[in-house]
Amino acid sequence: MSKLRVGVIGLGMGRNHIKGFQRHEKADVVAIADVDEAKLKQVGEEYGVKKSFRSGEELIENASKLDLDIISVATPNKFHCGLSIASMQAGCHVLCEKPLAMNAGEGREMEKVSQETGCRLMVNFSFRFKDAAQALKRQVDAGRLGDIYYARTVWLRRRGMPGFGGWFGQKALSGGGPLIDLGVHRIDLALWLMGYPDPTYVLGSTYDHIAQEVARKEKKDFDVEDLAVAMVKFDNNATLVAEASWASNIEEKGLQEIRLMGTEGGLLYNNTHKKDAELYYESEGDHYNACLNAVGSPAPSAMEHFVDCILNDKPHIASVREGVVVMELLDAIYESAEKGEPVKLQ
Ligand SMILES: NC(=O)c1ccc[n+]([C@@H]2O[C@H](COP(=O)([O-])OP(=O)(O)OC[C@H]3O[C@@H](n4cnc5c(N)ncnc54)[C@H](O)[C@@H]3O)[C@@H](O)[C@H]2O)c1
Repeated sequence: MSKLRVGVIGLGMGRNHIKGFQRHEKADVVAIADVDEAKLKQVGEEYGVKKSFRSGEELIENASKLDLDIISVATPNKFHCGLSIASMQAGCHVLCEKPLAMNAGEGREMEKVSQETGCRLMVNFSFRFKDAAQALKRQVDAGRLGDIYYARTVWLRRRGMPGFGGWFGQKALSGGGPLIDLGVHRIDLALWLMGYPDPTYVLGSTYDHIAQEVARKEKKDFDVEDLAVAMVKFDNNATLVAEASWASNIEEKGLQEIRLMGTEGGLLYNNTHKKDAELYYESEGDHYNACLNAVGSPAPSAMEHFVDCILNDKPHIASVREGVVVMELLDAIYESAEKGEPVKLQ
């Protein structure tokens, strides 16, 4: 079979998409797009991509002429929905960066177009594609934890606002702050390990004390939260607590951690100290801590996985449905924070 032909839109995180696809022997990145002309030229030369376009829209208009099979959307969040829908309507499968969209309404539109066109839409929940994450998922799926009834998932930064003053801190372009930027990864990772139970209630709070003060002093645009916390209740009676910050007064520079507690065992996955992937269980009256020493075959990147699934006609992980569920949770967390009360999900 001939190689899948790929176009990549947005050349910040999009560079990682180019690298990921270029690692697969059955994929060719043949076109790139960015509104920043200097970046377009530099990335084209660095990665040897010949066709370049000054906007995502222009690349999509040329999709059939270029015979594209896949388009990656790695632009600011505001453009995920429009560019993904246009790409699918042009007959291309889409790998869209996280968050899927600005909100669940946009996500559902994207899901509908995916169903109507038969084009795949995968979300780049990149943390699932780490060796340790995949190994831990195998343990959870093998029943090592029993029934998981509590999860805590955290990505906290002491100070670390991406491109302060840029699009990440402007709600109209990003949809929100660290919750939609960092929390989205952690919530997906927890839900994936838990088997994506159905959320029923959400209680959320958001704060902006530290970032607002800096924004005021430095005269920067900033109208999103700098810390979000949430408690989510599921139909199987499990509970998830999530925390995400770009600025918080904590000891660590950054902390990425997930804990799962189950009837048979527990799990700690700490992305800050790469070694901390551990299982905890009791046997014959003793407590065991089993430290992961991952020696299995390395996990493929999201891009390699997507190509493999398309070529072998297999379902991919990180589906648009899961992307929509995460967006529904994020919407509910923001709504709960604004109203100051819990929000019930359908
Ligand atoms: N999965 C991950 O681990 C991960 C990591 C970083 C960022 N991201 C996501 O990737 C996306 C981009 O983030 P980033 O950090 O690369 O931002 P960025 O600002 O560094 O890069 C975005 C690029 O998109 C370009 N762009 C904007 N509108 C465009 C359009 N209409 N057509 C073509 N290009 C356009 C900009 O010029 C810029 O070069 C975001 O959705 C972010 O959440 C994901």
